[in-house]
Amino acid sequence: MKKPLHLCARTLLTLALATCCMPIAARTSITLEKGWKFTKGDPAGAMRPNYKDASWENVTVPHDWAIYGPFDKNIDKQVVAIVQNGEKTATEKTGRTGALPYIGVAWYRKSFDLPDFKQGGKVTLLFDGAMSRATVYVNGSNVGNWGYGYNSFYFDITPFIQPGQPVNLAVRLENLEESSRWYPGAGLYRNVHVIVTPQTSVETWGTTLTTPVVTAQLAKVRLQTRIAKPVSDMTLVTEIKDPAGNIVETSSTNQLFGNEFEQLFAVKNPKLWSPETPSLYTAVSTLKLGDDIIDTYSTRFGIRSINFSPEKGFQLNGITRKFKGVCLHHDLGPIGSAVNVAALRRQLSIMKDMGCDAIRMTHNMPAPEMLELCDEMGFMVMDEAFDEWKQPKCKNGYNLFFDEWAEKDMVNFIHRDRNHPSIVMWSIGNEVPEQGLTDGSRVACFLQNIVHREDPTRPVTSGVNMAEDAIKHQFMAKLDIPGLNYRLPMYQKTYDLMPQGFLLGSETASTVSSRGVYKFPVKVGKGVIYPDAQSSSYDVEACSWSNLPDEDWMWQDDKNWVIGEFVWTGMDYLGEPSPYDQIWPSRSSYFGICDLAGIPKDRFYLYRSRWNKNEPTLHILPHWNWEGREGELTPVFVYTSYPEAELFVNGKSQGRLKKGKEGLERYRLMWNEVKYEPGSLKVIAYDAQGKAAAEKTIKTAGKPARILLKADRTQLEANGKDLSFVTVSVVDKDGNECATATNQLNFKVRGAGSYRAACNGDATSLELFHLPTMKLFSGKLVVLVQSSEKSGDIMLEVNGKGLKTGRQVLQSK
Ligand code: GAL
Repeated sequence: MKKPLHLCARTLLTLALATCCMPIAARTSITLEKGWKFTKGDPAGAMRPNYKDASWENVTVPHDWAIYGPFDKNIDKQVVAIVQNGEKTATEKTGRTGALPYIGVAWYRKSFDLPDFKQGGKVTLLFDGAMSRATVYVNGSNVGNWGYGYNSFYFDITPFIQPGQPVNLAVRLENLEESSRWYPGAGLYRNVHVIVTPQTSVETWGTTLTTPVVTAQLAKVRLQTRIAKPVSDMTLVTEIKDPAGNIVETSSTNQLFGNEFEQLFAVKNPKLWSPETPSLYTAVSTLKLGDDIIDTYSTRFGIRSINFSPEKGFQLNGITRKFKGVCLHHDLGPIGSAVNVAALRRQLSIMKDMGCDAIRMTHNMPAPEMLELCDEMGFMVMDEAFDEWKQPKCKNGYNLFFDEWAEKDMVNFIHRDRNHPSIVMWSIGNEVPEQGLTDGSRVACFLQNIVHREDPTRPVTSGVNMAEDAIKHQFMAKLDIPGLNYRLPMYQKTYDLMPQGFLLGSETASTVSSRGVYKFPVKVGKGVIYPDAQSSSYDVEACSWSNLPDEDWMWQDDKNWVIGEFVWTGMDYLGEPSPYDQIWPSRSSYFGICDLAGIPKDRFYLYRSRWNKNEPTLHILPHWNWEGREGELTPVFVYTSYPEAELFVNGKSQGRLKKGKEGLERYRLMWNEVKYEPGSLKVIAYDAQGKAAAEKTIKTAGKPARILLKADRTQLEANGKDLSFVTVSVVDKDGNECATATNQLNFKVRGAGSYRAACNGDATSLELFHLPTMKLFSGKLVVLVQSSEKSGDIMLEVNGKGLKTGRQVLQSK
């Protein structure tokens, strides 16, 4: 009797489902990369399925329409006072948004088939980000719009399509002038996905995975799974796989709470996630209706605990540590904002080598790929939503959206990102003018409460730069984590007056320098400018509101309540060329620890000497090519993890120095009385026991003779998008690096790849990244070679007048 009854119930259910037309099939997902049509402008009728777009440009997505230039002083020229920089009167600013043509309207169109979509199925169109003011049309109908260019968003497009019929997608984007403080990029610069599921399925971003109990012996893992259009007789089966892919726990439940399943798992002897051990588990869930699988959904996660307290500061897995973080904007230098995993991975690898363990995603939602890499490579993340709330910082910035969109943007932001173990705090905003207003703390509470509602497991911060005001108006006191941007003289007062009992350097340094450029006499200065629009690489210059790395470190080293820092910035970025924002042709930043090409500046080694605990650092500056400065004072600095070193010029000792107790001497070894003579500079470093531990020599170079190439990776994936970053330099006939060379070089790529872009890190260069020629800047540049979809050898050839050609072979598989 029992069995037929059961069958009968199933039959009824199936019938009921047939009427709502639910197919029995698991989810499929495609990413729409190839075959897009693109045009700038706003042609009438471009949303219509039969619109003739044959003359439009063929592009692949991710795509940044503005990165191809040309640079132009008049693009987004702004007559403004940058209040957060302390300016009171408006002046003309050029290059603020990179001097690249990002303003205007553009359209993307694509037609595609969805063989997996059957009657009763559901199709979700998911944009990882679209810059900006997206209006999306499917088969001619407007399916929705999303204003904020950095957020991810999705639409259920099922009502607009028919099984077996092609889907015609058209996207209109528009960027307004004066809408950003940096280069925002333009276009479908992140991926677009189409997800086909049954109507009853796991919601988009529908899982919440937390680890409420974490000990070395046992972790409690809690998974909540929300179901769209739930029906009865569903079961959710979830397997937990450890980092090696072994199933360590399984659970099955048919108990729905509203539309949500909840499952608890006991993971024994968990492999804890940390920057040093980025171990990742996966929860693989199967949604069943009776015996039929109707959906599968994977949630990758890490097991780790975080805690912030006055007694112990910040703790990860019960161990106190201070953030060794950097801020990163989203642009990828010469390829602009078009997201590329190889380029992101390279940025993070360089940061890792420096010993950096945390990234602040300034000042907006990053690409999902960035967070995946932070999970995998081991970086703690401050995930940030906004640079602006209701009060404008830019005339056409987020203030135009805030009232209508802030909550929706926060919800998507947190739902998308909350399962990343890398994220240890959320930031609701950066230097928002509300911090200085009477009711600004109400806006902060509104946003913080949304975070607490959507993710009760992580604290909230906000980068504050108007410390006095933010204290006075209760803004600072309301934040879970008080974060100060710069304002070192306010650290003590903020700590004393605020209730939290600790303080984060949410943004630090903003030291400025140009790679390989040194200015004399060497002196500490603020807002210093030079006729060549370059800043000194002796790392002694900052802006009126900012400071030197060493000054931050004194606070971090002397006060246990300072829980670390996020340096502005790890990499140079397009736009915001302070202190040269009034001087053309500066069009990219000077703040980076690395330049726009990702080549380390001297400052990289200063941070490395402090942060990288695995490998020693020994770095000499400046270069030793000072023709015409013979006999003149040419200070020599050494950035080293060793406590002591002796310097020699052509074999003559310049003295042995030990790191001091105060000032810059505490973190740098500086021989200020050295007189330049061509030849060699040698440094011998001594360890804590006074034993010679390492040495380094640099030499005056002769004329450039040969081109040298060095690839970050020689094995590429034959996927049409992998990149090798090849650093190009020139050496003299004896192999000494020519640190001041400016030769014009030409690039040729043959075989299974193509030339993608080049960058020399010069913030004043107007050479276009995508053309296969560029001048060296301070003796170096980087060429990006892209794989094709064919496997085989790729040859990069670099030549320049009078120089022996450089060749680099890469393989693509
Ligand atoms: C900060 C701001 C950053 C950047 C930086 C430059 O005040 O948060 O976005 O503008 O200054 O120093």
